[in-house]
Amino acid sequence: MTNSAKTPVAVLISGRGSNMGSILDACESPDFPVRVGIVISDNPKAEGLKVAKENGVDTLVVKRSDYSSKAEFEEVIDKAIRETGAKLICLAGFMALLSEDFVNGWHNQIINIHPSLLPAFKGLEAHQQAIDAGVRFTGCTVHIVRPEMDAGPIIIQAVVPVTKNDTADSLASRILHYEHVLYPEALRLLITGEAEIKGEKTIINNGRWQKTGHVNPAPLI
Ligand code: GAR
Repeated sequence: MTNSAKTPVAVLISGRGSNMGSILDACESPDFPVRVGIVISDNPKAEGLKVAKENGVDTLVVKRSDYSSKAEFEEVIDKAIRETGAKLICLAGFMALLSEDFVNGWHNQIINIHPSLLPAFKGLEAHQQAIDAGVRFTGCTVHIVRPEMDAGPIIIQAVVPVTKNDTADSLASRILHYEHVLYPEALRLLITGEAEIKGEKTIINNGRWQKTGHVNPAPLI
């Protein structure tokens, strides 16, 4: 597939941008149906901006404090994205909560990644929340964005075990490995139509079902 035949998407970041990096890596493959049209950060110091530039992707910084209202801030973001012809917006560690108006203006076209098995452990410090709750498994989720934080139809999830000595950092790095697998796959599913949003659920039409379970701690058998 030529680059111009690929579907353009926008990626919004606030920091490191490793998930953005995983999307850019996937875009290198001629078979991957997506290209990144623009990377926008609300934080001028986001490390991900440098990576995007090195990959030849257009970048834009839109600081909330430069605008008197959230509506004006979002208008600038919205306009910049629409100019690229993007069909989807990928939130990749974008830490500002988008307004109901913005989210509704891109209905079913904004996706987000969160480091837990939603609807568990929404919001900040999802890894510490999982450790504090004593769960044996947590993971990560890519979902369609609704105006409520970390809510919306689930596209894909990965289950990651929590081990006895885990800290928030060790768990975060184990989960991050799967985030980088999940985000490009969620994009592929949506763009190819293998994933279809029906109401508040995503139906996967490819029939690749994994029916195995995971037990942690493993039973002695
Ligand atoms: C990722 O772990 C992502 O799941 C999380 O922020 C990190 C961003 O890392 N997002 C959220 O917690 C959203 N609620 P990155 O900048 O390296 O992609």
